[in-house]
Amino acid sequence: MTNNDTLESDETDASRRTFMKAAGTATATSGVAIGSNTVAAGEKGDQMNARGIDQLLEELTIEQKVGQMTQVAIDNLGEGFGPDTAFNDHDDVDTLGELFTELHVGSILNGGATGPTFDGEEFVAGLNRLQEFTMDHTDPAIPFIWGCDALHGNTLLEGCTSFPQRLNMGVTRDIDLVERAATHTGGEIAAMGGHWIFGPTLDILRDMRWGRYFEGHSEDSMLLGEMGKARARGFQRTGRVTATVKHFAGYGTPNTGSDRTHARTSMRDLRTRQFDPYRRGLEEAKTVMVNSGAVNGKPAHVSRWLLTTVLRDRFGFEGVVLTDWDDFERLISNHEYLPDTDDGWREAVRQGIEAGVDMHMCGGETAPTDFIDTAVDLVESGDLSEARIDESVRRILALKADLGLFKEPLVPEDEIADLVGGAQDVSERLAKESLVLLQNEEETLPLEGVEDLLLTGPGVYEGTENRFLMQHGGWTLGWQGIEDGNLTEDGPRPRQNTIEDELQARLGDGLTHVPTEYEPAAYESLYENFDNGFFDVTDEQESAIRSAAPGSDAVVIVLGEGTHNEGFGDRDKMRFPAAQRELVEIVDAETDDDTPLVGVILAGSPRGTAKTFEHLDAVIFAGQPGSDAGVAVVDTLFGDYNPSGKLPFTWESHVGHVPQIYDEYPPRHPDGAGAQMVQFEFGHGLSYTDWEYSDLSLSTDSVKNPASMPTITAQVTVHNAGDADGEHVVEVYNTESYGSVLQPHRRLMGFERVSVAAGDSETVSIDLDLSTLEVVPGDMPGWRSRVVEAGEYELSVGEESTTLTVGKTASITDPEPTPGRYDIDNDGDEDFTDVIELYRQLKRRD
Ligand code: BGC
Repeated sequence: MTNNDTLESDETDASRRTFMKAAGTATATSGVAIGSNTVAAGEKGDQMNARGIDQLLEELTIEQKVGQMTQVAIDNLGEGFGPDTAFNDHDDVDTLGELFTELHVGSILNGGATGPTFDGEEFVAGLNRLQEFTMDHTDPAIPFIWGCDALHGNTLLEGCTSFPQRLNMGVTRDIDLVERAATHTGGEIAAMGGHWIFGPTLDILRDMRWGRYFEGHSEDSMLLGEMGKARARGFQRTGRVTATVKHFAGYGTPNTGSDRTHARTSMRDLRTRQFDPYRRGLEEAKTVMVNSGAVNGKPAHVSRWLLTTVLRDRFGFEGVVLTDWDDFERLISNHEYLPDTDDGWREAVRQGIEAGVDMHMCGGETAPTDFIDTAVDLVESGDLSEARIDESVRRILALKADLGLFKEPLVPEDEIADLVGGAQDVSERLAKESLVLLQNEEETLPLEGVEDLLLTGPGVYEGTENRFLMQHGGWTLGWQGIEDGNLTEDGPRPRQNTIEDELQARLGDGLTHVPTEYEPAAYESLYENFDNGFFDVTDEQESAIRSAAPGSDAVVIVLGEGTHNEGFGDRDKMRFPAAQRELVEIVDAETDDDTPLVGVILAGSPRGTAKTFEHLDAVIFAGQPGSDAGVAVVDTLFGDYNPSGKLPFTWESHVGHVPQIYDEYPPRHPDGAGAQMVQFEFGHGLSYTDWEYSDLSLSTDSVKNPASMPTITAQVTVHNAGDADGEHVVEVYNTESYGSVLQPHRRLMGFERVSVAAGDSETVSIDLDLSTLEVVPGDMPGWRSRVVEAGEYELSVGEESTTLTVGKTASITDPEPTPGRYDIDNDGDEDFTDVIELYRQLKRRD
């Protein structure tokens, strides 16, 4: 092992010269900045073009090439981390620097929204130190690429703005605002010296039992895909950061809602609904992360059909494909796809790379050398071609070049401080738009004439461990929102304002706050804690509530679930935890019918059933609104903001009715069969005013060929018929159609947010994406191209409807014959050998 401190200075010079030759530049220190200083793509391209990459590739040994294909998780390292910091996670090397000098690693990550440090300036200084060392001590000098999970803001740093979670973003239907939030996030990551955000998450949402439900934007594939595309664009705006479409494909429908299991889908569903959001995200994102689960009996990480035939050949994706955390190992431990032997592991690496993986993420289990040595051996023994390795390395180097890393490996260290905690206006607006008024009996809300208010429940209360996380959710200063699984009594906090703060500011002494017990359940599995937290109401709290409630003008009860993530967040309940249900009953019993009782739900999934809701006069689903939760909720309670959010998912009545989706095939609720009921439909969301529609029309009633006219426009007049000004999301659905296969019950085709003063009307134009009407025709195998079938389609906005006639059956998104269909010899390619094989098979039949 080389001791880097003893490297001779002429060796250093040689490596720097090699770097300059390869990169065609002598500049290594000037930085990237946000906005006006953004590096233009063309400018970067000049520094390392395809020829430069090929030359560089020629200089690399097989070890160096496979090193580039390796991404290694680095831990919480603390202040002053740099090349000499001990690397204790595996025995391979002793220091962080040696990851690059000894193992030639191409990428590092801090998974789980946990940085080496929570301090921005420490962070950027550390990454710069590491990068400078890498450039000076490796030959040829290749900058590393650093990745992280900045999934709802740059939630890796103390004082950060934590934007509303992805589920909240879906509620807003506000693509532009969501993109602005992502742009800020991308800017912060760039200023931190980072390059890679492992988002947007584009797994379709269908099962509230899944611990990652809060991470998806919607159960509607178009809404989800358009949100994801905008977020990828925002993340990448500086040109210095790449986004990731994940987890390709089918990760969102794990069997029984248990994380990383086999997907519940069919070929037809996969190709119409599940691929679609990823496909839209791929129009922007430069990298892809693979689904840890399996689809149709094949683990995604070894599916050549998925990772090459569909992803590259069909969707034309040219970027880098990354595994998820230790996922070659998971082929053995989780899927039992391969035996737990050396040969099993070797086969996992071989099949994964052959299928299309470019980079392996070595997390907690897999030591970098486990992957590197095995891949090198596969090439040396002829079991894997070097050409296949070159393909991946070329993509990785091209990504680094594209992000400007060869030209400017370092970033200025003084820009991050001004950005952390910024974009408050975007965050506040997003939080407000992301609330859904579920129930509002007799216009309980907005609150009027309220001077004395009781606030209770397990919601945010400053000064208690981790309670603050209920408004932020997972991936906030830690993976489960909990640093290292520990409670963060004095630990880092995002910038935040709470419901308590805002009520205090508004009501002063009129506010009585009786917080009830809540302890987060870090790393508690489904079997130990179904509620994602431990909730209780002590005797003392109960008597304080009983004495304050009767004299209050209104009571607000914060309900919901604790912060959680992945498998540890999987659950088997939809109802609130027992202590919360009892709390609602206590308050109801202590108040008369005239006292407004308002529930505010802080949760990353539909939590709550009619049994609790019937005790409440009004209910707001606030999701996990992030840093500006307080102002969003309190302005809504008092009518300074008129709620406009719409559910991006179906809220079933009970967990036994899960999963149901709004765009299911008919019959939805069959006569004479078990009544699987819905509590709140997809798109549900009340307002403080009344909305009426009239004069629905289309830019054309008849589309001859949807392939040549994939978008049309609907126009509708929206009238604000109530007393309050407001915003409203107008949605156009396909509500009836017939074809050669079942047509979904309803399909969202377009939406637009509009602001209308009380008594006024606005005419709104809404682009309709006709590809939302595509189906896979034919019998059960579901192999044929996606097409919009000729026929009549009823389009509706509320009660208004009109008919669109499609003249010709044609494909908008999928015009080629189905990929893989003609791979007769099953070698992953469709070529002349397939013709010969087909001939042989036909001959045998004779
Ligand atoms: C998750 C990914 C995440 C990765 C890195 C995995 O456990 O599935 O979504 O990007 O960790 O933190």
